[in-house]
Amino acid sequence: MTALLSVRDLTVTYRTSQGEVPAVRGVSFELEPGGSLGLAGESGCGKSTMANAILRLLPAGITTTGEVLLGEEDVLTMKPGRLRAVRWTGAAIVFQGALHALNPVQRVIDQITEPIILHKTEPDKKAAEKRAVDLLGQVGIPANRAEDYPHQLSGGQRQRVLIAMALACDPDLLIADEPTTALDLMVQAQVLAVLEKLRAERQLSMIFITHDLSVLTYVCDRLAVMYAGRIVERGPSDQVFERPTHPYTRALAAAFPTIGDRESRMNPSGLKGDPPDPAALPAGCPFHPRCPDAIDRCRDAEPPLLPSGPAQEAACILARP
Ligand SMILES: Nc1ncnc2c1ncn2[C@@H]1O[C@H](COP(=O)(O)OP(=O)(O)OP(=O)(O)O)[C@@H](O)[C@H]1O
Ligand SMILES: [Mg+2]
Repeated sequence: MTALLSVRDLTVTYRTSQGEVPAVRGVSFELEPGGSLGLAGESGCGKSTMANAILRLLPAGITTTGEVLLGEEDVLTMKPGRLRAVRWTGAAIVFQGALHALNPVQRVIDQITEPIILHKTEPDKKAAEKRAVDLLGQVGIPANRAEDYPHQLSGGQRQRVLIAMALACDPDLLIADEPTTALDLMVQAQVLAVLEKLRAERQLSMIFITHDLSVLTYVCDRLAVMYAGRIVERGPSDQVFERPTHPYTRALAAAFPTIGDRESRMNPSGLKGDPPDPAALPAGCPFHPRCPDAIDRCRDAEPPLLPSGPAQEAACILARP
């Protein structure tokens, strides 16, 4: 099967007054049509940078290299007109921290209708409005709330409006960057259920980003864990969560109890120290200064992502099967 999305050796470097910040360093992965990939990792590991780079949404002046193939086309070299068409219709994103991004003086129905009219994915305004109401229904917001302004909705409802908006032009791929992080647990569960339903019903492919591994195992069939701008472990999500092979994934999994798990996995001795500064990464494996299992050899070279178990890969010299 042809991949819906193939990211190849993606590298993103910010330029700051303090020098270059390599935020994403040679990331490669594929996503099948209808597949869902969860992307986890601590704050600053490059998750949002990668998400934005995939849709070429990073501001000018930031160096992005590699390939982002959406079907057969490389997003990174697309002409501007084509790029505008591909955003929304090929792939759409729910931005991190977008809860306050809705226009406060525009009714939600009009905000969802706007991209539909712009991209002409429905024949006229009436059909676009009908689609907007349908989409709101799909994310559990009744038709009688469509005329509401954002402030009349709860945080969870607003987050669901953003998901509906991202789906306005029926994209093949939805990138959701921390769509539930700002929500309380009950509302978080509602939003997750909506995403799960959409995925099953529409064969929607998804990249779901969060720092909470337990959430990802619920929504995604595959999981990739990022550390210092690289994928350090990946595989089927249950397997990665239940039997992590990279010491960083183990620490991350221990930090988040499974929803409904009575015996909390909370481990007070979990992850020590701060995430590394991407502008000054330690030599060798970037995780070695925090790694409980580190040996001298870990300082020598950055380990490549290699098989660490059945269908699992890890970038750790101690995680070989
Ligand atoms: N505009 C920018 N200029 C310079 N450096 C940046 C910029 N945006 C992000 N960075 C740096 O790039 C790295 C990756 O940031 P990014 O926002 O992608 O992380 P993240 O994994 O999404 O984190 P979080 O979980 O907090 O959302 C961080 O070290 C960050 O400081
Ligand atoms: Mg982020």
